[in-house]
This record gives sequence, structure tokens and C-alpha cells, in this order.
Amino acid sequence: MGVQMDILEFYGLKEDPFKLTPDPMFFFPSENHNEALSSLSYVVQQREGFCLVTGEPGTGKTTVLNVFKNSWKDRAEIALILTPRLSFEEFLLSVLEDLNVKLTKTNKNDILKAFRDFLIEKSQMDMPVIIIVDEAQNLHDETLEELRLLSNLETDKEKLLQIVLIAQPELEGRLRGSKLRQLNQRITVRARLNPLSHNETLEYLNYRLIKAGKGFLKLDKGVSGLISKFSSGIPRIINIAASRAIMSAYLEGSNIVNRKHVRYAIRHLKGDAMVGEIKRRSKLIYALPVIILFIITGAIGYYLVEQKGIPDLPKVESPVQVPQDTKDTTQAIKGATEGPSPAETEQKDTKGVEDQKKQKRTATVIVNAANLRSKPSLDSERISWASKGVVFEVKDEFTEITGKKWYKVKISDNRECWIADRVVTVQ
Ligand SMILES: Nc1ncnc2c1ncn2[C@@H]1O[C@H](COP(=O)(O)OP(=O)(O)OP(=O)(O)O)[C@@H](O)[C@H]1O
Ligand SMILES: [Mg+2]
Repeated sequence: MGVQMDILEFYGLKEDPFKLTPDPMFFFPSENHNEALSSLSYVVQQREGFCLVTGEPGTGKTTVLNVFKNSWKDRAEIALILTPRLSFEEFLLSVLEDLNVKLTKTNKNDILKAFRDFLIEKSQMDMPVIIIVDEAQNLHDETLEELRLLSNLETDKEKLLQIVLIAQPELEGRLRGSKLRQLNQRITVRARLNPLSHNETLEYLNYRLIKAGKGFLKLDKGVSGLISKFSSGIPRIINIAASRAIMSAYLEGSNIVNRKHVRYAIRHLKGDAMVGEIKRRSKLIYALPVIILFIITGAIGYYLVEQKGIPDLPKVESPVQVPQDTKDTTQAIKGATEGPSPAETEQKDTKGVEDQKKQKRTATVIVNAANLRSKPSLDSERISWASKGVVFEVKDEFTEITGKKWYKVKISDNRECWIADRVVTVQ
């Protein structure tokens, strides 16, 4: 992730402060998230049977579960099921695998017996056994019902097994239905993760920045308010908006993220149907590649517009030059990222000067040895290399999804290769 690395370096950050993984190291202990954690610990300490944690997508369920798992991993036997669309037998087998229970036979009764023996052994050692199911809304009714039967395993003093279900709120509706009512009654502890308040959003933003090493990056007044409003306090959307705003600030070379950067981020994320979809409770994970592409191409387009005084600025992906006199950033970005319409192409054909300019672009190597690769990617084969001062004519260019730019050049034996933009200056 070239641009990402550059941003971290520029701001003196050790890590990406707003990455989208449920990393327990970045856990922000809001009152509500802490309550959920306490509920989970209570279930284990009190050897309760079932616990249910619900929350809309992106509110931090997996993050909380990771923190919980970390805090108990040395004091309990934990099986974590992340892909609950399994038959009960498959479910059980993967639980036993997680718990390191060796099976000699694989019919259901023998598996259950082995599991029971394991539970009794652990109970004698006073070691809790916990099954955590993330995305539990995907469990089939039959598996949920079997889980209830499994939780019947108990001594006369306590439950032998603690089951933690982490789910989107729709599971609650299913649990109220007649099929799962019995299970519903067994759930003794419930927690709900809510979005962050305005104040918490401010604290959250600063907290994550500090965790990432803080560096020289500052948030201007009003930034968190705008992000809070746009995200409705949902951490995942806060992260996306904050990352995007930081990208805008970075492209301006500013170490302060201000409201303008956030407004820019919001304008572009709003226009993106995908983000709207997350806000309507969908899974961001499926939208991520598209959003990242959108963010990066949009950001570079913005950069181009901001730099409109500079002639011969390299373009982004499309052969259309950013309008030099436009006042409308959005329009300019459209031009820079979407490629030419037929009318634009026609107009362009008449702009011989522009074309000539484009044809004459040269790339001069500015490092001691620059790699020349078969494709515009660091993973591609290295064909040759060029030393400092060598000048190539730029034949084409390509911008990776990460924002890293490449130029196509011809080497002496007429072969075409790609050179990274960071090792050349283009004129
Ligand atoms: N309390 C928190 N502290 C720090 N980061 C958080 C917190 N809650 C959520 N996040 C961040 O928000 C993003 C989404 O969190 P997470 O994946 O845990 O949500 P989720 O509720 O499991 O979503 P889904 O329903 O889509 O699985 C992650 O980047 C995570 O780091
Ligand atoms: Mg999750």
C-alpha cells in the first residue's frame, strides 16, 4: 500500500490509525463497549449458559469479542466459530478442533461423548470452556436448537459450557419466534452495542490516533462533529471518513485535518451508494475494494484540482486533462477519474497542443538504480534497471488501486516496461 505508507511516514505514525480490522490493540473502551465486555466476563465467571451480544454492522462486535478472547485466553478453553453457516455436526467438529480434542470416532454420539468428557475434565480443573460464535445471525435454526441442547450439559452446581453469541440485531427477532423460544429463555445475559455519541466520537478519533503513534497529525476543531454526524457514531464509518479526510489533508501537505478535508471526504462518501448501503446496515467488507478505489481516485483528482496552477501535472488513469479553469471540484474529479465521454474525446482531438504535451512527457530517473518491470506492479517481474539521470519518454501511465502510479517506457531493445513514479520526475 504505497500511498498508505507515504501517509504514515509523512505524519510520523507507526500504524494506520483508522484501519478497518477489528484489532483489539485499538480497542476504545467506551462505556457501552466496556459494559458489553463486563457482561461477557460475568457469563464466564458465573458459569451462566448463554450470552447474546448484538449490534448493527460496524458497531464493534468483533472488536469486543477479540478483546474478550484475549483477556480470557490463558484462563479458559475457547472455541471461536467465525463461519457459522455449518450443519451442527460440522459446527461441533470445528469447536472440538479449536479445543484440541482428539477424536477417534466421528459419529455424532461419539463426538458428543468426547466433548462431554472434555467438559467434565475441564470443570474439575475449574477451567471454563467457552464457545464464541461471531455472525451468529447466520446460524441455522437447527444448529441454534442443538446448541441449546448442548448447553444442557451441566453438573448440579453449574453449566459446563458457556456459549456467547455475537450477532446483528435481527437474530433477536428470530429468537422471539416460536421455534427458538426455548433458547431465548436460556439467554440470561444480553448486551447491545450502540453507536458512539458526539463526545465519544471525538475521544475515539484521538484515542486511535494516539494508539497509532499520534505523530504530527492534528484534528482541527469541528472535525469530529462533522464525522460524528455523517457516521451516526458507527465506528466503521468513522474510520472510513477519518481515513479519507486524512488522505485529503495529506495531499495538501497539511498536518492539520480541517473541516474542509472532512467535508470533501463526506461529499464523496455520500455520493457513493455503497457507503449509503453500510449506513443501511449492510456489510462494508463487500464494498471495500470499490470504496478504496473511489477514495483514492477521488483524492488524487482533488489533488490535481488543488494544484491547478502547475502545468503538465500527470493525470490519473484517464487521458482527460483536469479542466484548468474549473471552480467545481466534483466536476473536475469526474473528469479526472471517469475517463472521457464521446463528446470529450471529440473535443480532445481538436486539442492538438494538449496531446503534443502529453506525447512529449519524459521521465528522468532520480535514484541510483530504478527497477523496470514487466507490469505496473511491485510483484511483477523485473526486466531491467536504469541508473540516475536516464531519461525515458512516457508512453502511458497507470495508477494502482492504492494510488501508486507507474509510467510505461520503452527501453533500448524496444521492450516496454513500467517504472514507478516515486523513482522518476516527469516533465
Ligand atoms: N470500541 C472500539 N474501539 C476501537 N475500534 C472500534 C471499536 N468499535 C469498532 N471499532 C472499529 O470499527 C470497525 C468495525 O468494527 P467491528 O468489525 O468490530 O464491527 P462489527 O460490529 O463486528 O461489524 P460487523 O457486523 O460488520 O461484523 C473496526 O475498524 C474496528 O476497529
Ligand atoms: Mg463483526
